[in-house]
Amino acid sequence: MSSTIALILIGVAVLFILGIKFLSSPKTARQGNLVAAAGMTIGLIILCNREGANIWLHGHNYLLIAIGILVGLVIGAFGAYSVKMTAMPQMVALFNGLGGGAAALVASLEFLKGAQPTQIAGIEVPVLHDPSAAITIPMLFATLIGSLSFSGSTIAYLKLEGKFEKPHTFPGQNILNGLIGLVILGLCGWLTFNATGHNAVIAFLVMFSLALFFGIAMVMPIGGADMPVVISLLNSFTGLAVAADGFAINNTAMIVAGTLVGSSGTLLTLLMCKAMNRPVTNVLFGAFGSGSAAQAAVAGVVGTVKPIQADEVALLLAYAQRVVVVPGYGMAVAQAQHSVRELTEELGKRGVEVQFAIHPVAGRMPGHMNVLLAEANVPYDQLIEMEQINPSMDRVDVCLVIGANDVVNPAAREEKTSPIYGMPIIEADRCKMTIVMKRSMAAGFAGIENHLFYKDNTRMLFGDAKASLNALVAAVKAS
Ligand code: TAP
Repeated sequence: MSSTIALILIGVAVLFILGIKFLSSPKTARQGNLVAAAGMTIGLIILCNREGANIWLHGHNYLLIAIGILVGLVIGAFGAYSVKMTAMPQMVALFNGLGGGAAALVASLEFLKGAQPTQIAGIEVPVLHDPSAAITIPMLFATLIGSLSFSGSTIAYLKLEGKFEKPHTFPGQNILNGLIGLVILGLCGWLTFNATGHNAVIAFLVMFSLALFFGIAMVMPIGGADMPVVISLLNSFTGLAVAADGFAINNTAMIVAGTLVGSSGTLLTLLMCKAMNRPVTNVLFGAFGSGSAAQAAVAGVVGTVKPIQADEVALLLAYAQRVVVVPGYGMAVAQAQHSVRELTEELGKRGVEVQFAIHPVAGRMPGHMNVLLAEANVPYDQLIEMEQINPSMDRVDVCLVIGANDVVNPAAREEKTSPIYGMPIIEADRCKMTIVMKRSMAAGFAGIENHLFYKDNTRMLFGDAKASLNALVAAVKAS
């Protein structure tokens, strides 16, 4: 590699790192995307200019590359423009799966490129010659992890789409999965030292197929609601597979990009688990939502449900000094973000101080609430993180809980037997008055009763969040 190319690739790495840095704040996230995309484009141009740098470019098949880029651009742009905000996790699952699949194919082609048709017992079969031992391990690693990520993400996508949403479990499942994992590792170990001959080709293809199956077997027992965590974990797998590809085909940009995705995906997985107060092992092997958790914790509920009407809430809001909005998954379902902004603007005109309390796992994907509120042009400085807002919740006159449930459930503090005990929550129950906006008394993601709904200072405003908010806006304007 010439020193100029090496320098440009360092620049590409810096662009990737800056991109990730910018993505950490809603204010700079759009620039982050553009900066990382610029890095990726430069990386691709450099790859095309490195004549003979890898097998596909030997023949200068630029037409094929151009067609691939064009098809990818059209599908990507169409998907991004047409996807609904609530379907974002599905989109991420699909993209991640395709990335993993591509990484697995690159590594497989690289591994099998030395295979020559050879006559064995009169039959022509592919036989591996001249394996390069130094890159066998990254190629096997990328094939294994990439294909697992592809099939696992496909199942995650289907689960998010509502197909076989429940955990699919059977006795001895973890043991069977463990055995398949051992066979895959055994094949990889054998191939590391025996990557020659026809048997190596067969062993490789068996390993590839088992890895695909393992991805399905790993995700099927996990409940649909845990899919965002699974996708984040599989995303880190895809990153590691891409980094391994980078080692196999000697591409620095892929090593850097893959490592960044691998590490950020791992960190995100751990952060989500911490915010739900559940270990990763519980997400992967706990079959959350299969019934045991859902049936638990109806106990410990004290008090009665007290419904309220929109015009009564409007009066409370109009005369409040400080209002805090706690958005949750139901706000995303109702697509009520624009109506919320309208209401808060109306209150702002009347001198009411309005803030949004953002729980890290409110909704169904990381940053779900931030993205929705940013789309509705809610000012960033009104969004306050859970840790910052909780200490002052007792000084809030009215707390509007919009389609949030688990993230405001005081059972997490009060009920030791609750499946969410220990999960940090937004302490809406400590406000002077709390209005919960939802359609019914149905449970949230965790499938458990919410103690907040029965508290003395809580009122329930039943109905679709968007319709209720529109009624509130009209009533506040009229008051
Ligand atoms: P949830 O606990 O899931 O509750 C959402 C509530 O919204 C439901 O109780 C539902 O009640 C209500 N709702 C649905 N559609 C509505 C509509 N059109 N109008 C009004 N209300 C509506 O949501 P949350 O409080 O945001 O908590 C998120 C949960 O997801 C947590 O348990 C979290 O651990 C989990 N989770 C999150 C993530 C990430 S990264 N965000 C990842 C994995 C798991 P009704 O049906 O009665 O209306």
